[in-house]
Amino acid sequence: MKTVKTLLTVSALAVTLSAASANDTNKTQVAPKAQPTKSAHEQISKPACNDVVTKGLTYVYVEEGTELSLKDGTIVYSGTPLKATKDGSYEINGFIGKDKTKLYATKNLNLLFAQSKNIKADGEKGTLIVKINKDDTEANCEESWASSADMFYDKCTKCHAAKVVGDHTMLEWEGLYGSMKSFAKPTKDEDALISRFLKAFAKDGILKEAE
Ligand code: HEC
Repeated sequence: MKTVKTLLTVSALAVTLSAASANDTNKTQVAPKAQPTKSAHEQISKPACNDVVTKGLTYVYVEEGTELSLKDGTIVYSGTPLKATKDGSYEINGFIGKDKTKLYATKNLNLLFAQSKNIKADGEKGTLIVKINKDDTEANCEESWASSADMFYDKCTKCHAAKVVGDHTMLEWEGLYGSMKSFAKPTKDEDALISRFLKAFAKDGILKEAE
């Protein structure tokens, strides 16, 4: 009798063990299924600039933050498109704010390109000539916006998949981002990077990829 009881216990233990290892196998099979989401995320983690719009331009490149201060007091913002002039300076074209010291990307005065006393106004449009070190420029549009894009994907994919930036206008993003900010809790610098990224690549942004 005693022997039989021992045998039963051992076989019960064996069943438990094999069930446990079957469970382990299940787990390792489930894990790779979650992978595609991550690699899809990585594929889209660099924004694509509209080649037509960006042809022949170079961009303000700021290593940290979004502002580049120049000697004459002018501030230019990361990712701003620059047109090289013959004498080695750069021209920034945009729309001018009421006080004539701010140059914006589009007519709705939503995305800031530069702040300066030297903007030449022509109606609602404005032109600014700046001298910028080559180190502070980047010929590749995507590269110049990469840190903003990274910040967006880092802060804005924690709860849901990345939303398509080009699905919303600049104004829509102002509202949407405004309400998501309380979730994402960006610092001031992170906030500037994300908000510039959303506006630049919005449906009516300057860099939205051609469809
Ligand atoms: C703490 C979680 C959380 C974070 C972080 C977060 N969101 Fe959301 N977001 C939500 C929830 C919940 C919804 C509503 C459900 C949905 O649409 O997925 C939502 C919805 C949205 C929508 C759709 C809203 C609509 O009305 O169509 C957009 C766009 C969006 N988020 C953008 C962002 C952006 C940009 C960021 C980064 C600044 C961000 N989210 C960060 C939780 C979050």
